[in-house]
Amino acid sequence: MRTILITGATSGFGKLMTQEFLAHGDLVIATGRQLVQRNEIFSTERQVYRDRLIEIDLDVTNFQQMLTAFNLIESRFKSLDILINNAGYGQFGALEEFRPEQVRDQMEVNFFGTVNVTQTFLPLLRQGRGKIFNFSSVFGFMGFPLTSLYCASKFAVEGLTESLRMELSPFGVQVCLIRPGGFKTDFGKNLLWNVKAHNSQYVGYVKNYQKLHDYFSEKKTQKPEEVAKGVLKLSLKRNLPMSKVFGQDGRMSYLFKTFTPDFIYFFLFQRILNKFMLDRTNKL
Ligand SMILES: NC(=O)c1ccc[n+]([C@@H]2O[C@H](COP(=O)([O-])OP(=O)(O)OC[C@H]3O[C@@H](n4cnc5c(N)ncnc54)[C@H](OP(=O)(O)O)[C@@H]3O)[C@@H](O)[C@H]2O)c1
Repeated sequence: MRTILITGATSGFGKLMTQEFLAHGDLVIATGRQLVQRNEIFSTERQVYRDRLIEIDLDVTNFQQMLTAFNLIESRFKSLDILINNAGYGQFGALEEFRPEQVRDQMEVNFFGTVNVTQTFLPLLRQGRGKIFNFSSVFGFMGFPLTSLYCASKFAVEGLTESLRMELSPFGVQVCLIRPGGFKTDFGKNLLWNVKAHNSQYVGYVKNYQKLHDYFSEKKTQKPEEVAKGVLKLSLKRNLPMSKVFGQDGRMSYLFKTFTPDFIYFFLFQRILNKFMLDRTNKL
């Protein structure tokens, strides 16, 4: 039986992956902020899967919780087969208007959270010649206006993952990036929009983007189950790819970004952005 550790299991992809891996017959250590107190989240799974589900409180920015989780897991298991660094959130808005603590928090959760959890559990993963999945995003390989903090945090996760993949290869530990496009999870609900007072130069711009984002979020048809099932399928492969893009929009964006020369890409993309974010969004 494989042992899987998932961060951010309280909702979205994390919750679905917990369910998928349990249904597959794995032992899942689901972690999340105040997961134990929010005991309704896995009330059904707790009954169905009993001792194959372990729930632990883990805020990925909290070193004390990390240590407690490690001690608990190490005392029960000699090794870990899979770590899924999924916990994350977005802060959107104009870079000029973010406070330093907001900037830091975005990196703290999405990037340092991934680093912290990986460092903590690597001894167990090396022991199990395990696999690590790091959640990036389409915004991990494409910049986007008013999304600079989130993009920066995911670009950082990408650099970390690519380097670690080579660094850990001699130990038999494989590392893979997960790059979802837009999926209907609680991501949009948890998104923090930094909208400032009326005298801001960015207020219309940010509001347009927010409207555009909400409009497309409403229309999102890509089911997050695709990602959860996809990660399970990947985890069963003998050799992991460097990265996997999920969703039709994700694949299109990947092709557009990867195979278009920079000067054409930025010329075309800026025109599209100007049309949608500056003009047409007013009519949405
Ligand atoms: N949905 C998309 O379209 C999309 C696209 C690309 C990438 N992603 C990435 O996919 C991952 C999962 O997001 P999702 O779409 O499933 O969104 P979600 O439904 O909002 O889930 C995010 C999860 O991360 C957890 N989390 C946030 N901060 C945390 C912290 N400090 N410590 C531990 N857990 C924390 C949340 O916990 P709480 O319940 O406590 O808030 C929640 O369980 C994220 O890394 C996100 O950036 C999502």
